[in-house]
Amino acid sequence: MKLSLLATALATLATPSRSHSHELIFYAKDFLGTWQGDCGPVASTGLSSNGSFIRRYNFDHSVANVRYMFFADDACAESLFSFYAVFGLDLGSHVPGLPYTRTLFAPFIKLLVRPDSEQGSHALAACNATTIGHDYDVTLSGCPTLGFKPTTECAGDYDLLKGQPTRTEDDIVATFVPDA
Ligand SMILES: *[C@@H]1O[C@H](CO)[C@@H](O)[C@H](O)[C@H]1NC(C)=O
Ligand SMILES: *[C@@H]1O[C@H](CO)[C@@H](O)[C@H](O)[C@H]1NC(C)=O
Repeated sequence: MKLSLLATALATLATPSRSHSHELIFYAKDFLGTWQGDCGPVASTGLSSNGSFIRRYNFDHSVANVRYMFFADDACAESLFSFYAVFGLDLGSHVPGLPYTRTLFAPFIKLLVRPDSEQGSHALAACNATTIGHDYDVTLSGCPTLGFKPTTECAGDYDLLKGQPTRTEDDIVATFVPDA
């Protein structure tokens, strides 16, 4: 798994297209809040891996975080491990021809990985993360299991972001979580 997984997901927060031109732009307030994706197959992201995952984003004005939770089965029941990423939101210009879309640079601020089961602990051993339920800071070390490079080598992602997400690029429903 690669950190571009985060990029993919960010790039693809989607919104139904609108017909009125005044709705073709969006502002930071349009994505503020917490969004959770339904359980989806890891393979839907283009990775050749079995299992399923859930992701949960929280967007503030200039900073956001996401937790990805990975499972061994297809129904998000058998926990493996998760990662938590904090990243900046450096919103750029609107993209001509793409409604409601802006460029985004997302500098990585913090990357944590956490084994959530015995099996997940084995998988994260290569990242020196072995205690179940413990968050390990891999911001500077990276984590080979997940394809994370040290942030000194990979500072962030360049992406496109749409306002008011309802689905992700891999066509998984993303739901707004009120009062989260
Ligand atoms: C996925 O599961 C199938 C069936 O158990 C197995 O044959 C295959 O090797 C697995 N693929 C990966 C990438 O783990
Ligand atoms: C894991 O720990 C070993 C021994 O301290 C170290 O050499 C290695 O770089 C660490 N690996 C990661 C990914 O942090």
